[in-house]
Amino acid sequence: MDKKNKTLGEFIIEHQAQFQYSSGELSKLINAIRLAAKVVNHEVNKAGLIDILGAVGDTNIQGEEQQKLDVLANNKFIQTLKNREIVCGIASEEEDHFIQVNSNNQQNQNKYVVLIDPLDGSSNIDVNVSVGTIFSIYRRVTPIGSPVTMEDFLQPGVNQVAAGYIIYGTSTMLVYTTGYGVNGFTLNPAIGTFYLSHPDMQYPETGNIYSINEGNYSHFPQGVKDYIKYCQKEEDDRPYTSRYIGSLVSDFHRNMIKGGIYMYPKSSVASNGKLRLLYECNPMAFLAEQAGGKASDGFKRILEIQPTELHERVPFFCGSRKMVEKAEEFMALHA
Ligand code: AHG
Ligand code: MN
Ligand code: MN
Ligand code: MN
Repeated sequence: MDKKNKTLGEFIIEHQAQFQYSSGELSKLINAIRLAAKVVNHEVNKAGLIDILGAVGDTNIQGEEQQKLDVLANNKFIQTLKNREIVCGIASEEEDHFIQVNSNNQQNQNKYVVLIDPLDGSSNIDVNVSVGTIFSIYRRVTPIGSPVTMEDFLQPGVNQVAAGYIIYGTSTMLVYTTGYGVNGFTLNPAIGTFYLSHPDMQYPETGNIYSINEGNYSHFPQGVKDYIKYCQKEEDDRPYTSRYIGSLVSDFHRNMIKGGIYMYPKSSVASNGKLRLLYECNPMAFLAEQAGGKASDGFKRILEIQPTELHERVPFFCGSRKMVEKAEEFMALHA
């Protein structure tokens, strides 16, 4: 069959045997995410037509103003996963605490927990710029059938069994990994089917794009300032191009296709930067490594960090391997 004619459903069935614990549970879980993605995609696409733009008036635990679509996407993903009883627990950027998923008031027998950033780049919704959803899946560490605990969620990223994102862009794509490379599927909106459009995605070893919110320059550590100056210097293949959408999913997706580096460093006003280790950095780091790229906090590998809190933040440097290594060299000079 022509690779590009393969649907996500077919791909999942075909690759089920690859999964570490092949009971079909993980396949069902990815299928549920696929379904929720279509529902959210439908809402995002018509956002300008119905009253779902703008803020709700509430603040989430991150101290951010919740957008209506943050709440809507959060509810759709949680409902879809809960109704199917295919996970035992869910944690979300938009929820203060993790959620137990029970069946008929009993603990279910499922072994996976999901962590999600239901809507990434939500400040971009009102201006019709691409947003996304990020998900991360772990096998629980506590016994099956018992209530999930914080321990099940606070696992280092190396323990992820799957991770991915949906990008609601000029076309909608679902990109994910189960630890055997990264594959991208594009939604044909006319028939509601995702097709394998980007098999075995690879980060170019190096690139010429750097992505960072340079408005924060004066607050950045010296290593980051020096690396930015390096990117801008007229020498060899530089200056690089600056591209920053302000939606991690979109910035990552572009850099993975074209070659580049994304940075959200710590600053004098945010001691760990802004991005969340569990909902944003770990899943993106897993994807980056699976695509031959690299992800670090400027000094060490993201995936090896032991989380201590559900909503903790971490500095993030992610992208083409050689570019991240170069940024780390500058960071090391001022450690
Ligand atoms: P979210 O919308 O899920 O809260 O995430 C926003 C994140 C990320 O997507 C983006 O890269 C970053 O915030 C942008 O932050 P700045 O506006 O500070 O650059
Ligand atoms: Mn947010
Ligand atoms: Mn986000
Ligand atoms: Mn979000």
